[in-house]
Amino acid sequence: MKVAICPGSFDPVTHGHIDIIKRAASIFDKVIVGVLVNVNKKPWFTIDERTDLLRKTVGDIPNVEVIGFDGLLVDFAAEHNANVIVKGLRAVSDFEYEFQMALTNSKLNDKIETVFLTTSSENLYLSSSIVKQVGLLGGDISPFVPECVHDEILSRINKMK
Ligand code: PNS
Repeated sequence: MKVAICPGSFDPVTHGHIDIIKRAASIFDKVIVGVLVNVNKKPWFTIDERTDLLRKTVGDIPNVEVIGFDGLLVDFAAEHNANVIVKGLRAVSDFEYEFQMALTNSKLNDKIETVFLTTSSENLYLSSSIVKQVGLLGGDISPFVPECVHDEILSRINKMK
């Protein structure tokens, strides 16, 4: 059985992430969405909240499981018998950072391969940070995220005021 990990900070999940997870689920037997810590980002949502929002949005896909983890990605993958990491690539600007992570992960565990899926053209510009910024400034974020995520972002913004 081919098990792949779709890792990310998912703070919070957007339509861009969902597209990559669904496409990975159509390629691999099982996809584990790993909700992990990105030390370079200060999250709005806890790992449990992010995991919960992902379960609400992709939890109905039969071969997808959502799990939160706060260690190394390669350890998480090995623990779940996954030897493929799937990441979405948006623009050239993603490439250098993703390439660095892929090479580091392969140095840490050479049995794990990183595979990149190109983001669908309609999601090219989309990121969790942009969505949060638009929401903070009062813009309509409904085209970018599922309804439950939209509501959570707005309630978080209201609490900040
Ligand atoms: O959605 P993001 O923030 O681009 O995802 C980055 C993430 C969470 C996948 C990355 O930071 C990660 O793998 N974190 C887990 C800790 C780890 O393994 N770090 C070394 C990877 S080079």
